[in-house]
Amino acid sequence: MTLANASGKAILFGEHAVVYGQPAIAVPLSHIRATVQVENLDPGSTGVLIEAPDIHQSYWLREADGENPLASAVRLTLDELNLKASVDIHLTIRSQLPIASGLGSSAAVSVAVIRALSAHLEKPLEVETISKIAYRVECLHHGTPSGIDNTVVAYEKPVYFIRENEPELIPISSPLNLIIGDTGVSMRTSIPVSLLRERWEKDPGTYGGWFEEIGEIVINARTMLETGSIESLGTLMDQNQALLEDMGLSSFELQRLIRAARKAGALGAKLSGAGMGGIMLALVEPDTAQIVETALREAGAKQVFITEVDE
Ligand code: PMV
Repeated sequence: MTLANASGKAILFGEHAVVYGQPAIAVPLSHIRATVQVENLDPGSTGVLIEAPDIHQSYWLREADGENPLASAVRLTLDELNLKASVDIHLTIRSQLPIASGLGSSAAVSVAVIRALSAHLEKPLEVETISKIAYRVECLHHGTPSGIDNTVVAYEKPVYFIRENEPELIPISSPLNLIIGDTGVSMRTSIPVSLLRERWEKDPGTYGGWFEEIGEIVINARTMLETGSIESLGTLMDQNQALLEDMGLSSFELQRLIRAARKAGALGAKLSGAGMGGIMLALVEPDTAQIVETALREAGAKQVFITEVDE
């Protein structure tokens, strides 16, 4: 039996603008993970049995349609390993990550599947290859992904990411205490991404200007991360949030959680990921973490995760 896992992720700065060529910064969330177990099936079985008990799914790979992201991750990995038709195995997939919420659930599941299959079949893959396979799964299901999710999850390090460039792994000089509040409103990434594209096509001047402003925030944030200026990072998060609000990507539930976090003493707060639902992120000092957590629960967060990001 082989076990492998992968972390969730949070985008600290630059979501959406990253699709239009601006930089973004994302961090792995090593305390929130997807896990995949692989076992050999009894002799005489034919193929790959996929089970995801958390979402009550169980099916054979050969019966899964092209829309199925788990099946796509398995097929693309077996293709990469040149093992398409010849394995009889049982995959069990579990995840602590809420689906369609901005925590990188689909990238984490894909990377965990790829790591588990390559380890079980004793054909190790380079991290770049793992990231590329996960990107192809994202492309099948999310339209025009920038590639940030698969990159941060595959490398499992804080990344400064510009579309179609080599990812830069960035040092973080003091640990970041983050609190994540889940609105409980699931939102497929492709919906806000295509809405924004329509708005940008109608008014490229205004939206292009906002993307550039976000790009500048991201460049400043990188410096603040590297120098450990945590308070300034909070201010930059608030500025990034204001621009995401201008672009119509926030929501009533997100606003309520963001306001509650700031009022309870967070250094900054913003939506994270695609928006219009999903999660928000607050940066806190360690001694205010508990107060912010309580405030988020009182403001209606369906789940709250407290996590620390460091090197
Ligand atoms: O899938 P999510 O919710 O983490 O959002 C991805 C981030 C976007 O910038 C909105 C899209 C992308 O492909 O980068």
